Amino acid sequence: MSEREVLLRTEGLTVRFPVKREKLFERRKYVHAVTEASIGIFKGEIFGLVGESGCGKSTFANATLGFIPPNEGKVYFCGELLDTKNKRSFRRQRMHMQKIFQDPSTSLSPRFTVEQAIAEPMIIRGGFTDAERRKRIGEMLSLIGLCESDMFRYVTEFSGGQKQRIAIARALIMHPDYIVCDEPVSALDVSVHAQILNLLKDLGERFGLTYLFISHNLAAVRKLCDRIAIMYLGHIVEYGDTAEIFAHPMHPYTKALISAVLTVDTEDNTGRMLLKGEIASPIDLPGGCVFSPRCPFACDKCRNYVCALTEIGDSHFAACPRALKGEIAL
Ligand SMILES: Nc1ncnc2c1ncn2[C@@H]1O[C@H](COP(=O)(O)OP(=O)(O)OP(=O)(O)O)[C@@H](O)[C@H]1O
Ligand SMILES: [Mg+2]
Repeated sequence: MSEREVLLRTEGLTVRFPVKREKLFERRKYVHAVTEASIGIFKGEIFGLVGESGCGKSTFANATLGFIPPNEGKVYFCGELLDTKNKRSFRRQRMHMQKIFQDPSTSLSPRFTVEQAIAEPMIIRGGFTDAERRKRIGEMLSLIGLCESDMFRYVTEFSGGQKQRIAIARALIMHPDYIVCDEPVSALDVSVHAQILNLLKDLGERFGLTYLFISHNLAAVRKLCDRIAIMYLGHIVEYGDTAEIFAHPMHPYTKALISAVLTVDTEDNTGRMLLKGEIASPIDLPGGCVFSPRCPFACDKCRNYVCALTEIGDSHFAACPRALKGEIAL
């Protein structure tokens, strides 16, 4: 890893959810949502997490926030273990973390005025007079493109894009360091996507924020994120610098995922890699490399051997034994 300061690090993070037994003495089964995910997110960067629906992105993000305690592995925030059992230290660490949800219509209470919605984290934390609170909220409203006087209107009076701006103001009002944005625009009208993403980027630069940004929109991820991780069936299969990964994907799954977007953009189908077969069940993970049943390059070794994420270039990691040995050209 390079010399940059790591804000959040996961080490072998593993989360599984028990599946309800159908018969009384049936062996307990688990949904393997995230398996041995080890990454580092640098201070001040926008780190993208991409992969098909159900691959474990939200579970991973929620585990980094301590919402879901991992079954195995660890999360370190500012170099300190995130220990959900130690209520005191966890509360202190959580004050520096926030999440922006997909749909502001459900994340914001319709009973609240804008002031009440944004003030809630300040009231929970305490230590502000009414005047201080109102001043800070007014300043935040102008930063997110609303007027100070909007403070007194109800959240329900605003459009979807404006509600997401209010949700962003609420998340940032206590000046956190680490923000998870889980599909922050996918519930909004497409006409406001770019505005909200630009707002997140601008506020990130202004406040020195570090984002974990989850999206299905690879074009947005490519534009916005400094580095990305690609997830397949709960496993991080590749991660590194965004431009480098888009230019030189090392894992066959990354290649398949991004070639679909690039060829749609250019209408050029040469170089497109189509995947055959269905994604396997996260309850019965395939042996060896989890991508091997769909990988056009898989050999017996891939089906029997789990390849750890390995550094292949300047902070570029991939988990494909054949790519690492230069046996396949993507
Ligand atoms: N609380 C839970 N209990 C049981 N299974 C869960 C729970 N939360 C998630 N899962 C399962 O874990 C796996 C990963 O889910 P997750 O929501 O993290 O995926 P995702 O990548 O965020 O998907 P999407 O892109 O659709 O939001 C899925 O198979 C999901 O069904
Ligand atoms: Mg999700």
